[in-house]
Amino acid sequence: PFVVTENCIKCKHTDCVEVCPVDCFHEGPNFLVIDPDECIDCTLCEPECPVNAIFPEDDVPAGQEKFVELNAELAKAWPVLTVRKDPPADAGEWDGKPDKLQYLER
Ligand code: SF4
Ligand code: F3S
Repeated sequence: PFVVTENCIKCKHTDCVEVCPVDCFHEGPNFLVIDPDECIDCTLCEPECPVNAIFPEDDVPAGQEKFVELNAELAKAWPVLTVRKDPPADAGEWDGKPDKLQYLER
């Protein structure tokens, strides 16, 4: 499956949800995750993310391996999102900031 990684935190553009044919994106307060049990590896979402936060499970950036488990865990807790919504007003300021995991809201 594909995995949403750290750079989505506080950016949350949600362009990704519009293209997913199996509606497997789940929304939290400031982050989205992919349900690995539903993702069919179609690859459509990966280029849609303006901040390049989506990767195949086998190609997650070094140091972000924990996001594989985090997607699986949070997908069970958060509701599905299928329609794009506006990102946070300060999303641009958070693109590429390091160590954003500490800001993840559950
Ligand atoms: Fe959805 Fe395809 Fe992305 Fe998987 S790879 S989350 S099925 S759009
Ligand atoms: Fe996050 Fe990118 Fe989707 S910022 S909400 S993974 S478009």
